[in-house]
Amino acid sequence: MKISSRVITVEKTPVFFGDDSFIALKQLLKSLHISARRVFIFVDRGTKQYCLPVLYEKAGFLQGATVLEIEGGEQSKSLASAENLWSMLLAEGADRNSLLVNLGGGVISDLGGFVAAGFKRGMPYINIPTSLIGQVDASIGGKTAVNLGNIKNQVGFFYAPSGVVIFPGFLKTLPLEHLRSGFAEIVKIALVMDPPLWQRIRKQSVEKLLKMPSESKTWKELLAKAITIKNAIIRDDYREKKLRKGLNFGHTLGHAFEAYFMAGPGKPLLHGEAVAAGMICAAYLSSCKAGLPMSELLEIKEFIASGFSKFKVTEEVKQGIMDLLIHDKKNQQGGNRFVLITKPGHAKINVSCDENEISEALDFYQE
Ligand code: GLY
Repeated sequence: MKISSRVITVEKTPVFFGDDSFIALKQLLKSLHISARRVFIFVDRGTKQYCLPVLYEKAGFLQGATVLEIEGGEQSKSLASAENLWSMLLAEGADRNSLLVNLGGGVISDLGGFVAAGFKRGMPYINIPTSLIGQVDASIGGKTAVNLGNIKNQVGFFYAPSGVVIFPGFLKTLPLEHLRSGFAEIVKIALVMDPPLWQRIRKQSVEKLLKMPSESKTWKELLAKAITIKNAIIRDDYREKKLRKGLNFGHTLGHAFEAYFMAGPGKPLLHGEAVAAGMICAAYLSSCKAGLPMSELLEIKEFIASGFSKFKVTEEVKQGIMDLLIHDKKNQQGGNRFVLITKPGHAKINVSCDENEISEALDFYQE
C-alpha cells in the first residue's frame, strides 16, 4: 500500500483521497480507455442537487456523461430500483464497455455496484462517495447489495469497483445528522482495529468535532486513517472470511434496529444511529463474554451516548428486535453471531450469544 498526504492506493482498487483526487480520476478513465460519452453517472435527488455541480466543476471532463437519477433513501435499495436502472442503462445504449459512476452515499454505491455487477454480466464502475459513511466504509471493498423488504443487504455480490474517489469537500453540504451517522463507522473502525485511533477520538467532544469544517486538518486525518485501515482489511480479507468480519461490530443488532424502525412505527434510524446503539449492546456483550473491562464498557457507552440520541427500547420494540434476530439466526447455524471486543482495538469474531444475553444487552442500552 502506498500512502501519501493526498492519495491512498491499494493493489486491487485504487482509492484516491483528497483535493486532487479528480486528477487521478481523469488518469484512471484514460487508463481504462473510457470517454465521457460512455460514462453513466448514477445520482439520487440530493446528490444531483448538491454534488453533481461540484463533480462537473472539479471534473469537467465528465460533462458529456449521461445522468441516471433515482429518488434515494434506504427504501430505494431494492430489486425494483435495480431493474429500473438496468432498463435505463439499456435504453441509453450502455454496454459492458461503458462505465457506471456512483455519485452518492451508501445506498447509491451498494445499489449502483449491484447494478454494475449484473448488467450484461458485469460492467466496470467507480464509486465517488459523497457521505461520510460512504467515504470511510461503504464505497470501499466491493460489497454490493439490495434489501429484500426491510431485511438489509440480502441479495448482493462481492464486485470490486475500478476505483474509488474520495473528495472530502462533498461533506460540506452533508446534513449534520448524516455526518453523525458516518462518524459511528469511524468509532467502529477504532474500536475493532485501532487502539490509537480510539484513544484519539474518545478525548474529543463529538459535537465539537462534527461542527469542524470538513477541510480541517482533524477531519482530513481522521478520514485518511479510517480509509487506510479499511483498505488494509480489504487487501487481506476481501471475501470476509475472518478479519473483515470485525467490521460488523455493532451491526448484528444495528441492522435489526434499522430494519425495525424502517418498517415503522416512528422515525426511521439512519444506519450509523442504529450501529451506534448496536455498538453499546455489543460492548455490553463483550464485557460478559470477551473480558472487556467494566471501565472500558462504561467509557464506550458514555462516549457513544454523548454523540447519539437514545431511542426507547419498550417491550414491544424488544420483541420486534428479537423476531428480526430469529431471522438472522436461521442464517447463521447455532445462534446469533456477534463481533465482540476484548479491549478497544481488538476484535473477537463469531461469538454466539443467546436470547437472555441479548435481552440483557438491550436493557443495558436502555439504562
Ligand atoms: N461495511 C462493512 C464491510 O465493508 O465489510
